[in-house]
Amino acid sequence: MRISLASDHAGFTLKEKIKEHLQENKYFYHDFGTFDEEPVDYPDLAYLAASAVQKGEYERGILVCGTGIGVCIAANKLQGIRAAHCGESYSARCSREHNDANILTLGARVIGVGIALEIVRVFLETPFAGGRHLLRLEKISRLEKSTLS
Ligand code: RB5
Repeated sequence: MRISLASDHAGFTLKEKIKEHLQENKYFYHDFGTFDEEPVDYPDLAYLAASAVQKGEYERGILVCGTGIGVCIAANKLQGIRAAHCGESYSARCSREHNDANILTLGARVIGVGIALEIVRVFLETPFAGGRHLLRLEKISRLEKSTLS
């Protein structure tokens, strides 16, 4: 599985911890930045990593900012992106099983490293359940065209 990573300055340190975790668990990833704690605008970084997922270059993405909210809002503007903001592993599991989320977003100023890495583990290991959830995802796709018909 190929993973696209990005953060803003507030998420930089947690992103580094996530990279260590991905290396230890033999995941392939690409870090789209940012690469230090100099202030940057989170939509720019969210766009870089999310558009690579949108194009199919990466199967999943992980985005980190201070709250996880800004990068989530930005990533979800891209057609085909289903970004889920998770603060605990139950939501991470359901985001995969029910929503087939292709991007996880985390708030580095909200959760600790241990919980964040557990969320990452669950997000990457949980498959989409399909079944009744498929029609609901089709409806979300139709909403991208601003219609349910
Ligand atoms: C940066 O100060 C902060 O606004 C950003 O990391 C994020 O929390 C936005 O949603």
